[in-house]
Amino acid sequence: MDRIDVRQATAADHSRIVDLLSRSWGSTIVIAHGVVYDAATLPAILAERRGRLAGLLTYAIGSDAFEVVSIDAVVKGAGVGTVLLNAAADHAERAGLRRLWLITTNDNLDALRFYQRRGMRLVGVTPGGVDGSRRIKPGIPLVGDFGIEIHDELTLEMRLPRPHPHH
Ligand SMILES: CC(C)(COP(=O)(O)OP(=O)(O)OC[C@H]1O[C@@H](n2cnc3c(N)ncnc32)[C@H](O)[C@@H]1OP(=O)(O)O)[C@@H](O)C(=O)NCCC(=O)NCCS
Repeated sequence: MDRIDVRQATAADHSRIVDLLSRSWGSTIVIAHGVVYDAATLPAILAERRGRLAGLLTYAIGSDAFEVVSIDAVVKGAGVGTVLLNAAADHAERAGLRRLWLITTNDNLDALRFYQRRGMRLVGVTPGGVDGSRRIKPGIPLVGDFGIEIHDELTLEMRLPRPHPHH
């Protein structure tokens, strides 16, 4: 397997980022906890394999927190999501932030497994949160992964700095 490179996205990556977000989320608009983001305008961490886009993480920085607004691996289950999440946590730690957090949807069992396996904790449920987003973005599907109806938002977080093993 080729090495996965990660770096901060630049203006030159814009059109590839728009393509990836549109394919994954129907448009570059992402709605979470009632906030409408145009993810294509956010700062982003990009993963590449042999110069080809392999994944993308967009984020927003608040007073003490790093919010992951979107995370996508072009090919799933090949380690790209792990590399992106690690890079985001490193960036957040270097910025002195206290936590990294994100919203996912109740159907996204793959993501729920993925985040918890990487040390994140489930810290909140907003029943009907996605139904509210769908009123703003009607393209959000009614049925998601595994045929599960999508209604609720789940909040997961990682406290920072992460404990590091001693060598
Ligand atoms: C969630 C997501 C970002 C994770 O990224 P990823 O590159 O697939 O993650 P990794 O390969 O690093 O790790 C995935 C884990 O699931 C396993 N896995 C195997 N096949 C898989 C598959 N088809 N899909 C997802 N995970 C799979 C991996 O082995 C790994 O297991 P581990 O936790 O025991 O190590 C990615 O699946 C994705 O893009 N999903 C669609 C978009 C999405 O839902 N984003 C999250 C919205 S909040």
